[in-house]
Amino acid sequence: MSNFPIERFKGLKTPFYYYNMALLERTLNEAVKHSSKYGFEIHYALKANVNTPILEMIKEKGLGADCVSGNEVKKALKIGFTPDHIAFAGVGKSDEEIFLGLEHDIFSFNCESGEEIKVINELAQQKGKKARVALRINPNVNANTHKYITTGLEENKFGINPWELEDVFELVKSCENIELIGIHFHIGSQITDLGVFKNLCSRVNHFNKWFMDRGMILPHINVGGGLGVDYHHPDDNPICDFETYFGIFNEFLELRPSQKLHFELGRALVGQCGSLISKVLYVKKGINTNFAILDAGMTELIRPALYQSYHRIDNLTSNSNDKLRYDVVGPICESSDCFGKALLLPETERGDLMAIRTTGAYGEVMASQYNLRDIVQAEYSE
Ligand code: LLP
Repeated sequence: MSNFPIERFKGLKTPFYYYNMALLERTLNEAVKHSSKYGFEIHYALKANVNTPILEMIKEKGLGADCVSGNEVKKALKIGFTPDHIAFAGVGKSDEEIFLGLEHDIFSFNCESGEEIKVINELAQQKGKKARVALRINPNVNANTHKYITTGLEENKFGINPWELEDVFELVKSCENIELIGIHFHIGSQITDLGVFKNLCSRVNHFNKWFMDRGMILPHINVGGGLGVDYHHPDDNPICDFETYFGIFNEFLELRPSQKLHFELGRALVGQCGSLISKVLYVKKGINTNFAILDAGMTELIRPALYQSYHRIDNLTSNSNDKLRYDVVGPICESSDCFGKALLLPETERGDLMAIRTTGAYGEVMASQYNLRDIVQAEYSE
């Protein structure tokens, strides 16, 4: 099991998120090493985790920022990401948020509809600016992941559908305050079948050629994020196979020399460095299982309740050699407030510390105050 500073944990108020900054650094180094050999640029998807020390390290490593709200853009700027490395995506940007992006001359607005383009053009005109825009195209590629985190199918709300592209392209050409700089794709998250990215490449090639046929070599191609992590084996497999991942894009994507490839990774960069640390409040005997009731619940980590997602759970303090079955649950008044069912764990008792693993991405950022709970805190390794 990963090295947790258990003595330090014993003096801290639970629950809290614990971030292993050394692992984060190793992960970022790997990602940068394998992307930079092809000149690819990574924009970190802030939505996965917005803690200041984490963002600072990511910025230090030279990554850009992928934001999906005005507040994320503000946070990225505050951390020191430069506007020319900030992309702003999202299917519903408000006027206020668009003004913010324009004011700071961000690298790109990733646009998802003709109506949005018209609005950005109008607002840019009002401010005497030219907005750089990338069109998010829905490539209709199945990501083979959970349906709530699939985004690249025609039935999803995201992106411009291929049959709308001609009209949108005509519209963009007529917009004087818009500069078309690229195309953008994102097909879903937690993708572990890397073959899916080969399919994406072939769709991207198709659309890239579509623009070339119309006389445009777009300078930027953005293939989004989505690379999955190993939730089952966080200790054996703490860092994603970035070499294979970036290698696929290098091999299968047909870029012109002037074209730059961009990625928007979230989970693959920060997922494994975080664990939710919680204390066992009570152990209750059930009919076929026991219940270990934690002081963390779906308010701190909603992924299991929302996506039926698996997170490995380790008892950090039990010395027992006996293993028993437990449903590991939270204190919230909802039956879905359950982190894992019938898990085989060392005999557990009140006061034990549990680590819910691989929660660095979409954990703390999705926490709520349902039941008027305290906002969950963060701790960092030295
Ligand atoms: N780019 C766009 C346009 C996105 O929508 C997303 C994630 C990303 C990049 C980053 O994807 P990643 O590399 O992290 O897979 N809350 C869910 C995940 C939602 C992902 C939303 N979009 C979860 O806990 O699994």
